[in-house]
Amino acid sequence: MTDTADATRRLRDRSEVTIDFDHHDPKLSADRTAAGHELRRCPVSWTESHGGYWVFSAHEEAQEVGRRADVFASGNDDGNGPRKGLNIPHIATAAGGIIESDAPRHTQVRRQMGPWFSQEAVDARRAQMDEDVTFFIDNIIEKGEADFVKDLAGPFPGLVTLRLLGLPIEYYQPFSDILHKTVYLPAGTPERQAVDLELLWLAGEVWQWIEKKKADPRDDYLTFLTTIEVDGERIQPAEALVEAILTIGAGLDTTTSLMGHTFRWLSRNPEAKAWLMEDPERLGPACDEFLRMASPITATARTVMKDHVVRDLQLRAGDRVWMYWHAANHDPAVFECPDEVRLDRSHNRHVAFAAGPHRCLGMRYARAEWAAMVTQVLTRMPDFVVDDDAVVPVPDVSLTGGFISMPVRFTPGPRIGTGVLRETVTSRQPATN
Ligand code: HEM
Repeated sequence: MTDTADATRRLRDRSEVTIDFDHHDPKLSADRTAAGHELRRCPVSWTESHGGYWVFSAHEEAQEVGRRADVFASGNDDGNGPRKGLNIPHIATAAGGIIESDAPRHTQVRRQMGPWFSQEAVDARRAQMDEDVTFFIDNIIEKGEADFVKDLAGPFPGLVTLRLLGLPIEYYQPFSDILHKTVYLPAGTPERQAVDLELLWLAGEVWQWIEKKKADPRDDYLTFLTTIEVDGERIQPAEALVEAILTIGAGLDTTTSLMGHTFRWLSRNPEAKAWLMEDPERLGPACDEFLRMASPITATARTVMKDHVVRDLQLRAGDRVWMYWHAANHDPAVFECPDEVRLDRSHNRHVAFAAGPHRCLGMRYARAEWAAMVTQVLTRMPDFVVDDDAVVPVPDVSLTGGFISMPVRFTPGPRIGTGVLRETVTSRQPATN
């Protein structure tokens, strides 16, 4: 990619690469992988949908867009400036925290957040994660049937995130349910409007806790968020609220989707279950392969901030760019047999966590949560079989590609936890109104 065009080179017009494409089209939901292969025949293309945007579907170019934050902005000016954030069409609400901000603010805030997401910080929480997984599996283990998404993969990341933030753990069910619904209910429907109201309730609850943390600071992430400084000044409590909601939003359904794809694939390939459990060292590469294959975040967008040339195509300031991470993760130029799951794949350069300065801050959490859940599921319910015909995928995969429901059967087993957590959460369920 170059910032300026070589005067002697003929630049192609976007009309030469215009395709008929809309990432909200149900065709994409039907098969994200096939859609990606189709698009990659013209790896940088243009569509007129939603006011027009570039579609980047090859690994090299998508990765480069993520890295070149000087050209491709994440910021969201809320309708008051050129930056339009991560979503197409643009969502003109308050910018979504650091994920929709650019340097220098992004750099300053991310540097302060870093220690909370370090390997050391995550490792310190592993024992608690194991205990929490035990709690969720205990809830279903005697029944011999469950819903992987609703009973395990949905609520568990919610509980981990609440513990990180220092919020009451009994919020895990409503918070997980609300965030789960926001990723798949289409905008404009009455169901979506109802969830938007629930989101307001969630924000109101977090806001109350921000007030409490300011009065009574604790060693938790929510307290920390109220102390972030930009240019030497503390951020406003409303900005801390946006960062808290970003953490909740970013960490829940993505991890749920990763686990869902993992369980469905393992159910279809049962010989891999025992292979995985033979050596814990196999879990790391396997997690990355599921991340690549599933690409929980399908795609995200940027705004071009200055004229720029890619593959002889002239991008103009103000153009929108859609980075199709899922397609990049199935690019045969980078991955041998890209549509095969190879649990021992080496040099797995997937971009499921994106690339560049916005690369997922919570990726170590995601990997640790995945390992905690997969280890216990394979140990305690190793013969699980997903009812493939009853699996309900999310209807719109334009942002994330997971599941609403995934029924499963297995041989019942005994509870092994202390039951303390069960007592806490069942005695203090908050109301969502
Ligand atoms: C499998 C699970 C996850 C996936 C696939 C994932 C994916 C991503 C992607 C693709 C981005 C970058 C978006 C962009 O640049 O356009 C991102 C950013 C981010 N993620 Fe994750 N994420 C996951 C889990 C988590 C978790 C568990 C947390 C928090 C506990 C988290 C917190 C964040 C934050 C705060 C950012 C913004 C970073 C920045 O802008 O500098 N994520 N994630």
